[in-house]
Amino acid sequence: CGIVGYVGHRDSQPILLSGLSRLEYRGYDSAGIAVIDADGALGMRKRAGKLAVLRDDLTAVPMPSGTTGIGHTRWATHGGPTDANAHPHLADNDDLALIHNGIIENYAEIKAALVAEGYTFRSETDTEVAAVLLGREFRAHDGDLVAAFRAVVSRLEGAFTLLAMHKDTPGLVVGARRNSPLVIGLGDGENFLASDVAAFVEHTRNALAIGQDEIVAITAEGVTVTDFTGAPVEVEPFEVMWDASAADKGGWSSFMAKEVSEEPDAVANTVRGRIRDGIVAIPELDGLDELFAGINRIIIIACGTAAYAGMVGKYAIEQWARVPADVELAHEFRYRDPVIGPDTLVVSISQSGETMDTLMAVKYARERGAKTLSICNTQGATIPRESDAIVYTHAGPEVAVASTKAFVAQVTAQYLLALHIAHIRGTLSDTEIAQQVLELEEVPEKISRILSDEQAHIEQFAKWMADTRSVLFLGRHVGYPIALEGALKLKEISYIHAEGFAAGELKHGPIALIEPGQPVFVLVPSPSHSPLLHSKVISNIQEIRARGARIIAVAEEGDAAVLPYADEVLRIPFAGPLFEPILAVVPLHIFAMGLSTAKGLDVDQPRNLAKSVTVE
Ligand code: G6P
Repeated sequence: CGIVGYVGHRDSQPILLSGLSRLEYRGYDSAGIAVIDADGALGMRKRAGKLAVLRDDLTAVPMPSGTTGIGHTRWATHGGPTDANAHPHLADNDDLALIHNGIIENYAEIKAALVAEGYTFRSETDTEVAAVLLGREFRAHDGDLVAAFRAVVSRLEGAFTLLAMHKDTPGLVVGARRNSPLVIGLGDGENFLASDVAAFVEHTRNALAIGQDEIVAITAEGVTVTDFTGAPVEVEPFEVMWDASAADKGGWSSFMAKEVSEEPDAVANTVRGRIRDGIVAIPELDGLDELFAGINRIIIIACGTAAYAGMVGKYAIEQWARVPADVELAHEFRYRDPVIGPDTLVVSISQSGETMDTLMAVKYARERGAKTLSICNTQGATIPRESDAIVYTHAGPEVAVASTKAFVAQVTAQYLLALHIAHIRGTLSDTEIAQQVLELEEVPEKISRILSDEQAHIEQFAKWMADTRSVLFLGRHVGYPIALEGALKLKEISYIHAEGFAAGELKHGPIALIEPGQPVFVLVPSPSHSPLLHSKVISNIQEIRARGARIIAVAEEGDAAVLPYADEVLRIPFAGPLFEPILAVVPLHIFAMGLSTAKGLDVDQPRNLAKSVTVE
């Protein structure tokens, strides 16, 4: 869910609504705001559906304005997406409003105790339990909202960010966090709270990161942060690197279209500042050579698209840095008693830095004594804060739920990391590293070429395919994770059944799926790198074509061998073997987007999904 809070000198409603629009990727089942107006009354409006429903409602029947407010956009966990279950939730005679992200695990028990005391409830949510409890504690603590918060958080189990305000304490918004995100934005005579910096970057780039188990109180003039017992804590200021326009759709038809167009920049910006004298030098990792020297194993953990980026990274880490590397889904890693210790480096990959499954796996790895490094796209997010080292991807804010530019940046960051480790461990010479760096530096221009030369063609092709019910993707070596990513993208935004397979696995099962007309994307490796691998893939194509498959080949410019067998060829520029996947994924992103658009679907906000899944 997305959370925003404001106290200042301006009308809070437009600030809350624009903040929510930037957080809508976190959930869009329902949205709501609450405001303490100029007369000191607390107004609240919430609606099931996307933020636009709430906006229309507020336009039709305006709510009095005020300078203190909170807002929420929801991804339903407890209770369906209805008006009643939407946030904010009110308590204490509707004088208190509270919003929440996460899950309160012991809510049933607290609710039973409150019901026994005579309190009543209007929704099925765990959030309302927190609201009613806060109302009770507010009275018990003589109207001290911060003290009431301390009492509430000491009773709650689970993961949560809570934000609340009370009519009797105007000009004050209080928040608390445990395992769920919350950052502070510092303005001039105004302050902000939000799930991530995107919500307030148009107003201020000065931010403070709040640690775990901390309570924050903001007024127009100041910010105080304490731990759950009330002891003051140090907060870490940082400057937000994103500029405000980066989180705008600009003239694009969708955020995803904009973000795909930014794939060249995502790679270039992730490389920038990390090359010194032709070889990789990542400033954030200065002084951390020990971290890499003392390990004998790397485990990459992530979910979704980030996990596929990890699968690509594994090839580079093993090939260049000669450290055994495994990739595991974060939610599986944690529950299987893995063999890890001080000689293991756990590399987590997360665009948001908030995915709960990944966060929990990182914590678990640390508890087991492993070293942790976070590859993350969002400053101030939780996962990098919980890790020993950070390498940020500089893809800029990614808003569309389906990840695109973050993927190419994640692969790039892992390549930089692999070359960095190779340098420290001496597994590649400086000349060899410099060669790979040159290749990497050419990637942005090559992606741009795909966008300029192939995008229109791929979109047209996607239109023809709009009635397709199932698509298969095949790849070998680094093409295999790209096949998985191509299939995931199609499932996510066009709701088409899609599967990715390792091409070599075809004859061990998936070939039974092939019937006449079945579209199959095949990622064809360059013949010049490995004639053997190339010919194996061509054989795979022949096997399925003989059974009636319709072949869409993603192949290097000039690879004529595919022509006799392919019904359609999507071309990518020539690149070294490990750089091919960063190029080959681009046509698949464009295809998924084109198909979703052709079906008239919401490209940016597909059904049932949220971009940042902050529950396990
Ligand atoms: C969600 C999103 C995916 C994303 C995954 C991991 O499932 O819908 O697009 O790949 O989370 O997100 P992260 O922020 O950790 O990269």
